[in-house]
Amino acid sequence: MRTYLVTGGAGFIGSNYIHYMFRKYGSQIRIINVDALTYAGNLENLKEFESWENYTFLKADICDKEAISAVFAENEIDRVVHFAAESHVDRSIRNPEIFVQTNVLGTAVMLNCAKAAWELPDGSFQEGKKFLHVSTDEVYGSLEEDGGYFYETTPYAPRSPYSASKASSDMLVKAYMDTYHFPANITNCSNNYGPYQFPEKLIPLIINNALQGKKLPVYGDGRNVRDWLYVEDHAKAIDMVQEQGRLFETYNVGGHNEKQNIEIIKIIIKTLREMLPEDDPRKALVSEDLITYVEDRKGHDRRYAIAPDKIRKEIGWEPETMFEEGIRRTIQWFFENEAWMKNVTSGDYQKYYAEMYKDE
Ligand code: NAD
Ligand code: TYD
Repeated sequence: MRTYLVTGGAGFIGSNYIHYMFRKYGSQIRIINVDALTYAGNLENLKEFESWENYTFLKADICDKEAISAVFAENEIDRVVHFAAESHVDRSIRNPEIFVQTNVLGTAVMLNCAKAAWELPDGSFQEGKKFLHVSTDEVYGSLEEDGGYFYETTPYAPRSPYSASKASSDMLVKAYMDTYHFPANITNCSNNYGPYQFPEKLIPLIINNALQGKKLPVYGDGRNVRDWLYVEDHAKAIDMVQEQGRLFETYNVGGHNEKQNIEIIKIIIKTLREMLPEDDPRKALVSEDLITYVEDRKGHDRRYAIAPDKIRKEIGWEPETMFEEGIRRTIQWFFENEAWMKNVTSGDYQKYYAEMYKDE
């Protein structure tokens, strides 16, 4: 039975990936989920697997060398899928240091421990072991409105503390591949959306605020462009790259679904109004009148757009969920999981929101 070590599996993409992998492989695989359970980690996301014999959760920080090397010593790990990171640009602008610590130092610890566990006396690596580093398109910087696409060959030009820390972690992975021939891949994916996304990010924040009749904060002129991918398509891409991709390669992942933020917000409002039943009191609250332009994000990247040609040609990956369907599935999930949203927006989140948006 193949054993996966997943870091950050209690977060948004990591938990969707674990759901995807158990749906696909069932009892044929074992998953060990290592997560520090920061504000972004939530074991509720994985409660259906708690009693499974082939699933283990371990609360640990990826910067903790002893804890991570113990996981490798006590288990025969075949695959590492490394999601754990600080992931929110606005938080990185307020507090960059934790991004360097988790994203850079944490990745160094993961690489070192995997290398120590998998390396043979002659410097080669045990057959079949693989490390996948989950990264972002933000490492490539910002595109002009009509300025082309990000390819795997596009030079790195990160502009926020978040993307700079992810770029550094990518460079470390590349250095391990070049120096030691360490068996790894990197994926650089565009913006994800879907179930379990923490409501500090645009799409769940807008859904949550709209349903409460709260203002919908739009940074700057609202015309910054992101390339949105349904999270399940990302999970599938990660699995396909690890199983079918060429080792040592980077693959860009994206769905050619570029939209301005203001378009996204208007689609969410329209879809919520279509999906809410006539007699639901929230229906009267959801309206474009809630849209509120606020101060722009510092250094706000204008546009991201992925060229997914390589992953399509080499591996045959294509996104399956078009945006109109993905946003409906996401909204439906939030309708059915009100308690989840209430849980994650209590306590610390309220403090963050009040400071970040000055209680707009
Ligand atoms: P998230 O913030 O929802 O989840 C991050 C998870 O990592 C949480 O469970 C958190 O508890 C855990 N974590 C944080 N610090 C840790 C530490 N020191 N030790 C152990 N665990 C720790 O993030 P996400 O949106 O799911 O992103 C996952 C990965 O995918 C990140 O590496 C991110 O850079 C990358 N990515 C995200 C997107 C996106 O749109 N969200 C797009 C492309 C790539
Ligand atoms: P976000 O979801 O934070 O992802 P990223 O910054 O990593 O792309 O933001 C997506 C876009 O939405 C980005 O251009 C910033 C913008 N945005 C708003 O306009 N208002 C908001 O309240 C948030 C959270 C984001």
